[in-house]
Amino acid sequence: MNQPDNPVIILAIESSCDDTGAAVLAEDKILANVVAGQAVHAQYGGVVPELASRAHQQNILPVVDIALKKAGISLNDITAIAYTKGPGLLGSLLVGGSFAKGLSLSLNKPLLEVHHMQAHILAHFIDTPGIKKPGFPFLCLTVSGGHTQIVRAESPDNLIIIGETLDDAAGEAFDKVAKILELPYPGGPLVDKYARHGNPKAFSFPKPHIEGYNFSFSGFKTAFLNFINNNKSKDHAFVEHNLQDICASVQAKIVNILMEKLSAAARDTGIREIAIAGGVSANSGLRAALTEAGKKNAWNIYVPPFEYCTDNAAMIGIAGLFKYKKGDFAAINSAPSARYEFK
Ligand code: KG4
Ligand code: ZN
Repeated sequence: MNQPDNPVIILAIESSCDDTGAAVLAEDKILANVVAGQAVHAQYGGVVPELASRAHQQNILPVVDIALKKAGISLNDITAIAYTKGPGLLGSLLVGGSFAKGLSLSLNKPLLEVHHMQAHILAHFIDTPGIKKPGFPFLCLTVSGGHTQIVRAESPDNLIIIGETLDDAAGEAFDKVAKILELPYPGGPLVDKYARHGNPKAFSFPKPHIEGYNFSFSGFKTAFLNFINNNKSKDHAFVEHNLQDICASVQAKIVNILMEKLSAAARDTGIREIAIAGGVSANSGLRAALTEAGKKNAWNIYVPPFEYCTDNAAMIGIAGLFKYKKGDFAAINSAPSARYEFK
């Protein structure tokens, strides 16, 4: 998008899980993108919803304040406020939602409600030097801690799920594997780190047989737990001795499951614009497999910069911008929804 003389300035707020994010956009350009993580959950091996919402309450003001300062703007310069309506943890969503609504009311600026998973996909439309935006229609494999979806994107406001997980998400599978290996939460990035130096063919795991473009990771998780327990009963230091090979083999399997379905969807639809999004799109194995499949199948591939893969408010801002341009504003009684429908 060309920058008009009076660009639309969006303040975006993301608080769906355990990261508090605020971003400021001038049209599709990011002026600031601030994320505060929550270290408090590591000691529990997973996100504790009540602690997450309390941490959001502590973080939200400073995070928004820093974002405004970094962007060099004041509250009066904002055109509209975008927030994550859902899906996510209700207590967490309520903090960002109430803050955004309060700001919208007090400043008399329009409010935009954004679907978190759609925002992961629309992150591809953030203006980033040297990075091309996908053309419509494109397919997006959206892989996060809570969701795994193949989406056919017809336009920014016509995103159709054509496949999704029947149980665990891909990120959840990575995190559960990490937990079984006694790696700290969130373990996905650590599995990725150890996998870089391991042999992906060292160990093999069963592949789920699921119809269509859907996924299932719960059987894989059980198989992995049994595999570790069996081997530990023979060698109690099995994990320590084989950590890199285990991580490489597990990662290769998860990536293979994801890529098979994405390839089938691309083949059947004839679409060659192929994107990935969500936290797991930061995974080096998935990025490499996509690049390889792209070359083999003559796809144009789209991979978001790392800062827009995992949860961030910049993606909420770009999704909000599309809504603003359509005049799709939230009502005054807009409220977060933990199971916000994808429509
Ligand atoms: O999109 P996201 O930040 O949050 C949700 O919307 O859920 O995704 C978080 C998920 C976590 O499960 C995390 O372990 C996983 O993304 N993740 C990774 C990597 N970076 C983040 N999984 C594998 N490899 C990575 N490099
Ligand atoms: Zn997410």
